[in-house]
Amino acid sequence: MLFDKEEAMVLCVLLHLILLSLTAVHAQQTLPGCEDKCGNVTVPYPFGLIEDPKCYRPQMDINCSHSFNPPKLFLGKGNIEVLEILLEEGQVRIKNSIAWDCYKNGARTNWSFPWTNMNAQPYTFNDTRNRFIAVGCDTLALITGSNGRDYTGGCVSGCDSQQSIINGTCSSIGCCETLIPKGVKNFKVNLTSFNSHSDTWKFNPCSFAFIVEKDVYNFSVSDLFDLRGRTEFPAVMDWAIGNKTCKEADFVCGNYSHCVDSINGPGYLCHCNNGYEGNPYLPNGCQDINECADKNMNDCEGNCTNTPGSYRCSCPPGTYDEVVQDKLRCIPSPPVINAVKNRFPVWQVALGMGLGLLFLLVGSSSLYWGVEKRRLFKLKAEFFQKNGGMLLQQQMSNRESTVESTKIFTAEELEKATNNYDEGQILGRGGYGTVYKGILPNHSIVAVKKSKLVDETQIEQFINEVVILSQINHRNVVKLLGCCLETEVPLLIYEFVNNGTLFHHIHDEGLVASLSWETRLTIAAETAGALAYLHSAASIPIIHRDIKSTNILLDENYRARVSDFGASRLVPLDQTQLTTLVQGTLGYLDPEYLQTSQLTEKSDVYSFGIVLMELLTGEKALSFERPEQERNLSMHFVSSMKQNRLFEILEERVVQEGSQEQILEIAELAKRCVRLNGDERPTMKEVAMELEGLWRLGKHPWVQQDPQETELLLGEPSDSSSYNTTGYDSLKDHVKLSFGGGR
Ligand SMILES: *[C@@H]1O[C@H](CO)[C@@H](O)[C@H](O)[C@H]1NC(C)=O
Ligand SMILES: *[C@@H]1O[C@H](CO)[C@@H](O)[C@H](O)[C@H]1NC(C)=O
Ligand SMILES: *[C@@H]1O[C@H](CO)[C@@H](O)[C@H](O)[C@H]1NC(C)=O
Ligand SMILES: *[C@@H]1O[C@H](CO)[C@@H](O)[C@H](O)[C@H]1NC(C)=O
Ligand SMILES: *[C@@H]1O[C@H](CO)[C@@H](O)[C@H](O)[C@H]1NC(C)=O
Ligand SMILES: *[C@@H]1O[C@H](CO)[C@@H](O)[C@H](O)[C@H]1NC(C)=O
Ligand SMILES: *[C@@H]1O[C@H](CO)[C@@H](O)[C@H](O)[C@H]1NC(C)=O
Ligand SMILES: *[C@@H]1O[C@H](CO)[C@@H](O)[C@H](O)[C@H]1NC(C)=O
Ligand SMILES: *[C@@H]1O[C@H](CO)[C@@H](O)[C@H](O)[C@H]1NC(C)=O
Ligand SMILES: *[C@@H]1O[C@H](CO)[C@@H](O)[C@H](O)[C@H]1NC(C)=O
Repeated sequence: MLFDKEEAMVLCVLLHLILLSLTAVHAQQTLPGCEDKCGNVTVPYPFGLIEDPKCYRPQMDINCSHSFNPPKLFLGKGNIEVLEILLEEGQVRIKNSIAWDCYKNGARTNWSFPWTNMNAQPYTFNDTRNRFIAVGCDTLALITGSNGRDYTGGCVSGCDSQQSIINGTCSSIGCCETLIPKGVKNFKVNLTSFNSHSDTWKFNPCSFAFIVEKDVYNFSVSDLFDLRGRTEFPAVMDWAIGNKTCKEADFVCGNYSHCVDSINGPGYLCHCNNGYEGNPYLPNGCQDINECADKNMNDCEGNCTNTPGSYRCSCPPGTYDEVVQDKLRCIPSPPVINAVKNRFPVWQVALGMGLGLLFLLVGSSSLYWGVEKRRLFKLKAEFFQKNGGMLLQQQMSNRESTVESTKIFTAEELEKATNNYDEGQILGRGGYGTVYKGILPNHSIVAVKKSKLVDETQIEQFINEVVILSQINHRNVVKLLGCCLETEVPLLIYEFVNNGTLFHHIHDEGLVASLSWETRLTIAAETAGALAYLHSAASIPIIHRDIKSTNILLDENYRARVSDFGASRLVPLDQTQLTTLVQGTLGYLDPEYLQTSQLTEKSDVYSFGIVLMELLTGEKALSFERPEQERNLSMHFVSSMKQNRLFEILEERVVQEGSQEQILEIAELAKRCVRLNGDERPTMKEVAMELEGLWRLGKHPWVQQDPQETELLLGEPSDSSSYNTTGYDSLKDHVKLSFGGGR
């Protein structure tokens, strides 16, 4: 045996002590080797005791005087006593001096008008947390000072008897109060009386005045006689580090924290990032909060996993996690759609039945209608059949859930809705078709996509896609409401998303820099979530193939809708590739796919990486206005990161509002998304999770609401004429299905 029982116990105790000391380090408030207490008051870094200049930032020294029991703290070399240091708020609570002015028999006996001056120190009286109060029955109290501008304020209080006083209220009977201006660093009080207290000196010989923390002083009759020495008058002062802004300063905040300029003038403060806590002024002061340990800090339905700065919920098998109204929910995965897989006999039967029905209809109609009308009807019916209407109807009757979500519109309905395809209703036009705005009889607004000619061999796949897409129910995917098959080419009817495309909001004149950092993060996280859903949650992976900022629509709350599905098979595959090049979405095109023509989910990851870069830089994916080496955003972005010049190419608003750490993390993510080798790119699920974590952090309380943005939110939806390209319109994408027609 190596140790006996006693030795083992000693070892055990030692181990325990080591563990304890480790936890103590965890909550360290000072630099190593520095005293962190004076009496029972904590002195956290950047403050430190005056004896050891290594232990505090310049001017943040505290004199701990042991002449008192318990010891008292004073600011620097002065005599202003500190009651408490508030690290989080960037404030100290101090004991403030009181001014008095005393009389006897109508003659002034003694007075004290102390002058408080913090001009040389980084402290400022907080205007919202303090009040100037005067107590007396024959009192005019003035406060004068300078905070850059000279100021004078004050109040008057009078009373004729003790009986007229109301305890607890300070409203010009025996007591008065007033606000102090912003940024007060020094002040002097002057007390005068109108009548030398000659009528009241028996119960009120003196006037008193002081600055005191709001709601702390409670006036009472007995205070009229003497206030001196009775109470401490705490006041709250703001502090800041140094006299430089965050950008100019050389000392910066520790890991996992960010710097905020002081609103009192020069200097700055540090705050731990969301999801972290501790002392942000120490290099490793901010520590991750374990949200999973506290039920109140997470809203997980399933299992909770703590991550740096955030946490993740994982849902049980068979469900899919999605953010709904800012809460994570476990949502049942959509059902497996394999309606067409074993359709062979059914489809024959259905066609037969359908044709029979058609003949019946055509036959009976001839009894009522004229020849011309009959010809038209017949044409429509032919189109209906040619466009796969029977197949669709049959499939719909097979699946009750589809019946309610997808509607077959009639040609008349849509003609009426779009005012006979009026030019004024056009939302966008592309190489493959036109998108119209339509208003249905129930006043709901829809987008109607009218495509160009259809290749007949694609019909079955087209129908498949309509069925599948109408099953997709994701809040960030534009909803396909239905289709119309009675026209020469099928028409698709989508939910109308009224605030234009992401492209429009990033690049169009007048809107540049209009999106806040938080909005950008939300859009990125939502788009990634939607794509991850398409790739993995649906039983059949769906590859979008044409992710770009023009295919991300925004609603009035700037929530993203990935659009542009459904009509993909309307265009033969070989033509698409050719046109994609010509169309200029080249900036988004996965180079690996260009080479191999092998379609995988990683192509969407690549394109999404470009959208991230667009959100960060405000630059277009491909621009011939940029110098030749910078034309391609992806190459420009990656090379800027390599040369450590990332922050030079970012949009100014992004740099201002996002924390450096967050921006770097997203830039790094974007870079990984556009790796040349698709296998090295993260999956969309990984991207979505990372962005969701950052998005939680992005809901920073310190990001101020931009008034312009609020206006935009309240304002009219943008004019439809501003959609020059619209997300409903690109018909170039294909939805890859694991089953297809004809085989
Ligand atoms: C410090 O001790 C004094 C009395 O000993 C007590 O009044 C005060 O509340 C204590 N302060 C803190 C921060 O514990
Ligand atoms: C600290 O305060 C004590 C008592 O107020 C004073 O005597 C002493 O000089 C101060 N120390 C410094 C370094 O100012
Ligand atoms: C100041 O005057 C008041 C009222 O006359 C008296 O009670 C007090 O003792 C005086 N204080 C000093 C320090 O002289
Ligand atoms: C004053 O204190 C309040 C509350 O702590 C704080 O929100 C505000 O920013 C402070 N004002 C200044 C000018 O620092
Ligand atoms: C006000 O409070 C004092 C004690 O602080 C008490 O003696 C007096 O009776 C109170 N007056 C009224 C009107 O409540
Ligand atoms: C102030 O004093 C009055 C009477 O002395 C009392 O009723 C009241 O609750 C006090 N208010 C506060 C905030 O302490
Ligand atoms: C206080 O104000 C009065 C007039 O308002 C003035 O005569 C007096 O000199 C002032 N006292 C001080 C100490 O500033
Ligand atoms: C800023 O502070 C430093 C030392 O703390 C001082 O030397 C310098 O003069 C100050 N600059 C300004 C503009 O106040
Ligand atoms: C924390 O900061 C130190 C420098 O102060 C740095 O060396 C270290 O890598 C940082 N750690 C993390 C996790 O960022
Ligand atoms: C939570 O995690 C445990 C262990 O990994 C697993 O057994 C359990 O099924 C999970 N529960 C849910 C709701 O995901």
